Amino acid sequence: MAIGAAEIARILEAYPAVPAVGALGSHSAIDIADGAVTEGLASVVLTQTGRDATYARYFRTLRDASGARRRGCVDEVWDYPKFAELASPESQERLRQRGVVFVPNRAFSSYVPLDTIEREFRVPVVGARAMLRIEERSERENYYRLLEAAGIPSPRAIASPDAIDRLAIVKLPHARRRLERGFFTAASPAEFRTKSERLIARGTITADDLATARIEEYVLGPVFNFNFFFSPLVPRAEGLELLGVDERRESNLDGLVRLPAAQQLELTESERIPDYLVVGHGTLTLRESILEDVFRIGEKFVDAARARYPPGILGAFCLQTCLDRDGRPSVFDVAARIGGGTNVHLALGHPYGNALYREPMSTGRRIALEIRRAATDGRLGEILT
Ligand SMILES: Nc1ncnc2c1ncn2[C@@H]1O[C@H](COP(=O)(O)OP(=O)(O)O)[C@@H](O)[C@H]1O
Ligand SMILES: [Mg+2]
Repeated sequence: MAIGAAEIARILEAYPAVPAVGALGSHSAIDIADGAVTEGLASVVLTQTGRDATYARYFRTLRDASGARRRGCVDEVWDYPKFAELASPESQERLRQRGVVFVPNRAFSSYVPLDTIEREFRVPVVGARAMLRIEERSERENYYRLLEAAGIPSPRAIASPDAIDRLAIVKLPHARRRLERGFFTAASPAEFRTKSERLIARGTITADDLATARIEEYVLGPVFNFNFFFSPLVPRAEGLELLGVDERRESNLDGLVRLPAAQQLELTESERIPDYLVVGHGTLTLRESILEDVFRIGEKFVDAARARYPPGILGAFCLQTCLDRDGRPSVFDVAARIGGGTNVHLALGHPYGNALYREPMSTGRRIALEIRRAATDGRLGEILT
């Protein structure tokens, strides 16, 4: 049985008045920890041995003799042999004892099985626990369904390889690195066949994954990841905030586009295949005349999520969007939790978040502010699931 509101309310009864903020040490954990301590909450980062130095050493909180923060923002580091063990009964008990509310990032929903998160992880989650699953394209109830129900434009789905009549992107996991992408593009059925055969032979993708891959129209245009926040603590008309926009750097895809055409053509066949491994982020703002379209999409998403997954989206979420040649946004991916690129604005805040709050407002800080407000008003149950 999925963990419900009554159970979370019961767990919260034993919590301190001001909870600590926890996150899995990867993805956007620095933003989460930075935001927490900025708002006066303690931060706890759960690491995996061998991947802990960033948090345990380089961003660890150091205090002077009087206890004042001298450096860093990660107050506590709890190390696990494997990330998945943070959901063990002993670890859950420790998280509850420490009064941790847990901010889910993509690494959490990738390393801890979704069934475990939904049915066994008895720690309050900041955000919409039940919506983490919609990111899985292999699920029947995935984000495409939600976007469709919401009436949000997204790249046109192409039913089968034989129906490819323009540049298309084929989405499937990498054969060995299952958390990474084995994406490729093709502009015709013949190109689909030659490319996929080559990628299978190289061990990049498998025939099984290919059979169920999502094929969609490739939108030629820049990618904007809209980092939104929705608060259920204020009137609905004030609930949606756009904090900022990030864009990604994707390993050799970005390397390829930085080469002049003549040099691209000198690459070998296999060097020319772009990889979509996300390795970093940059920051963007949006032409103002397009902002209203983006808010409209955000509002539709909030409404559809409330109807389909009550209580709906809570807190940070990210709509990953391509802008077409007419500047129209088309949502190709959804994160029903903090996005992966929010470190771009850590302590400086996000451009739009700052405009709204009149002080630096990063995503991590906005999350912590929401926790603090809800805790003060006795409304934690409304932002936790
Ligand atoms: N329809 C599309 N048109 C153009 N580029 C796309 C499209 N869908 C995805 N991409 C590119 O592929 C990358 C990863 O796609 P995404 O759907 O976000 O995969 P994942 O779920 O693995 O994050 C995007 O950042 C973007 O560069
Ligand atoms: Mg994505």
